[in-house]
Amino acid sequence: MLCKFVGLVLLVAGFCSAALAQTQAVDAEGHQWWQHAVFYEIYPRSFMDSNNDGIGDLNGIASKLDYLKNLGVDAIWITPCYPSPQVDFGYDVSDYENIDPMYGTLADFDRLQQEAQKRGIRIIMDFVMNHSSDQHAWFIDSRSSRTSAKRDWYMWHDGKGSAPPNNWVSTFGGPAWTWDAKTGQYFYHYFYAQQPDLNWRNPAVHDAMFDVTRWWYKRGVAGFRLDAVDTLFEDPGLHDNPVLPGKDKLGDPVEENVYNTKLPEVHVVLRDLRKVADENNAVLIGETWTKDVSELKQYYGDHGDELQMPMDFMFTKVDRLSAGEFRRQIAAVDSAGGWPVFVLSNHDIVRSSVRYGDGKNNRAIEKLMASLYLTLRGTPIMYYGEEIGMENNDPKRKEDVKDPIGRVGWPEEKGRDGERTPMQWDDSPNAGFTRGTPWLPVPPSYKTVNVASELKDPASVLQVYRRLLALRHENRALLDGDYVAVNESDTNVLSYLRRFKNEAVLVVLNMSSQPQRVSFDLGPQGFAAKSASTLFTTMGGGSKVSLSHLSLQPFSVYVGAVSK
Ligand code: GLC
Ligand code: CA
Repeated sequence: MLCKFVGLVLLVAGFCSAALAQTQAVDAEGHQWWQHAVFYEIYPRSFMDSNNDGIGDLNGIASKLDYLKNLGVDAIWITPCYPSPQVDFGYDVSDYENIDPMYGTLADFDRLQQEAQKRGIRIIMDFVMNHSSDQHAWFIDSRSSRTSAKRDWYMWHDGKGSAPPNNWVSTFGGPAWTWDAKTGQYFYHYFYAQQPDLNWRNPAVHDAMFDVTRWWYKRGVAGFRLDAVDTLFEDPGLHDNPVLPGKDKLGDPVEENVYNTKLPEVHVVLRDLRKVADENNAVLIGETWTKDVSELKQYYGDHGDELQMPMDFMFTKVDRLSAGEFRRQIAAVDSAGGWPVFVLSNHDIVRSSVRYGDGKNNRAIEKLMASLYLTLRGTPIMYYGEEIGMENNDPKRKEDVKDPIGRVGWPEEKGRDGERTPMQWDDSPNAGFTRGTPWLPVPPSYKTVNVASELKDPASVLQVYRRLLALRHENRALLDGDYVAVNESDTNVLSYLRRFKNEAVLVVLNMSSQPQRVSFDLGPQGFAAKSASTLFTTMGGGSKVSLSHLSLQPFSVYVGAVSK
């Protein structure tokens, strides 16, 4: 009886601690740490080089933790720093439970983790789950013979006569099937041939990959960014994808990836991964290329039991400043039922300063974009260098291109080198990133666009990021308030309220190159005030403004508190 009772107590205690981990709220609204955190993506090759071999490393990141803390960053997502032949610059992993010597050692990682923790900064790792490197021990075994222990860990199939099993095309160019002469079969790879797809239908693969996440949780990581989740499963019948007219940038037929992306089985894996994440108070961020809100909803899960933070890339697809377009996209994400995630650019996408800059007002536009995604309801994921207004530095000649897709697709597709250049720390040679030769060149603009200079300049882009991040950490309406669009028919000025109980913050963004005049009647939203108290603005002016006539300079920002 006693035994039974003790067993029950243990069971309940175990259950409670698991439940606790799931619901460790940081405020009375029940929000979790990742809902109040600001995330920052670090491309480790390019952040800071501590040993002057031209490639950034973990000790380099550690040396910049104080900078990140002062900026207002709460969590860093480090793109893959595992052992890798670097065909896809780390997204071809040859050992999931180690650090590539070029980036340091596991001891360096542990030190980085501890130093980050001291400063209240969490570490998110990149989980490359769809594929490994062809140099991973699993694949080396898999390709050694048809009867090898790990043969079925990857996607091996017979061809159709002398042709591949079907018409699937690799998103990085050429067929998605590569012939292996030794064993007389094809293996499948959604990306480069050096990135064979793992067979997620094999329970042994499932278990091994889940153990990888547990291994890193034990080392103290606070979650994962899940790489390429859309591509985990393929149609077992290997049906041909429908082909659309024309060719893509790499010269391949354009296909609708109906049989090799976004299969329903993906969601089963995500639900299971979420359970393990919850046991560790961790967050899962998804590289989810959703085409609309209904797809985004699926990634949150029917019961909110899949990804806490599926990245919605809609902002990265808006290619010009347009109040109407941003308003539409924000409303869509806000209505998806989960916690929104906002991204302006990353290591695969041209920097936002290039997408929105007009060449004349780039600094003002960068401040405008910062003010947009740092004041919305949801979690922003910054990309290193965005906070200083770094621009792309695309290769000028094919022979300079490092990213393989840029060599295949030149000149139409120049690859992703341009958005991956070294962080610009100061105006010394190579922007203070390295005293060696940087793996990618630093653009001449580093002389003025750099951290040290911008820290000294009160009007810099960096100061705007610092002030906005400080504001969003302390302002309840910005942290927890709902999102209410106002003046919705204005095609030039994007305005919204963030309302929290008796407080509200009004955000006004002039997305046009012309001065604008706006007025607000916030009575219907429950805020009768006729004026706002300035919290942040890129214009001059007093500490109060009238809501019946607010004058805005081109591309300017106004953020103010309004009361009932
Ligand atoms: C993701 C990564 C990208 C990589 C690809 C293959 O899209 O963001 O950089 O090339 O996955 O792993
Ligand atoms: Ca280095």
